[in-house]
Amino acid sequence: MRNFRIAPSLLSADFACLGQEVRDVIAAGADIIHFDVMDNHYVPNLTVGPLVCEAIRPHTQAPIDVHLMVKPVDSLVPMFAKAGADIITFHPEGSEHIDRTLGLIKENGCKAGLVFNPATPLSWLDHVMDKVDMILIMSVNPGFGGQKFIPHALEKVREARRRIDEYTAGHGGEIWLEVDGGVKVDNIAEVAAAGADTFVAGSAIFGQPDYPSVIAAMRAELAKSA
Ligand code: DX5
Ligand code: ZN
Repeated sequence: MRNFRIAPSLLSADFACLGQEVRDVIAAGADIIHFDVMDNHYVPNLTVGPLVCEAIRPHTQAPIDVHLMVKPVDSLVPMFAKAGADIITFHPEGSEHIDRTLGLIKENGCKAGLVFNPATPLSWLDHVMDKVDMILIMSVNPGFGGQKFIPHALEKVREARRRIDEYTAGHGGEIWLEVDGGVKVDNIAEVAAAGADTFVAGSAIFGQPDYPSVIAAMRAELAKSA
């Protein structure tokens, strides 16, 4: 059975009390903190930088999964590693040289991953499977929380699962398959059935007053799909 991880996206949290939000959502049963970085250039929105990552770091032992929606990427990598990131993912379109950026993330002591927009082909993975620890499939176009899940993403999740299974069968290791955008209690089982193991959810969790009950409902759905 696959190991399922729930990764609340802080984008929908209350930014006036972020430390408390991080503690609450982890206490509610989440596994990972998903941290969305937008630069008003690669995507039309502006969020948070390494300073905020550093500020939340003491509030949890859970991994911080930094999703860089930025261009260029490289100069931010050491800053986020220093600010306590555990995983750093980026969009291939944001990097001048994806192999070098993946290497840089690992040299800085973090797990590295590539992110695929709905219109970005998985062929970017062809020659870098040995360097990725995570593949993140976007099920919305990046930039904003609260968007609707794009069903076509499921096909891409299946294809990414096929690539991961084929690669790890031959070479060993572990590559996580994360899905981000519009994931909710009522579609998480379908996303898991397509092959995902790590689920980002922003508005579905932070939009509800009772985090433990949403996360429990997600886990109950995941148990059905397993
Ligand atoms: C979108 C971000 C997501 C976003 C997800 O660009 O990368 O992480 O916060 O939010 P929901 O779960 O509300 O779609
Ligand atoms: Zn994200």
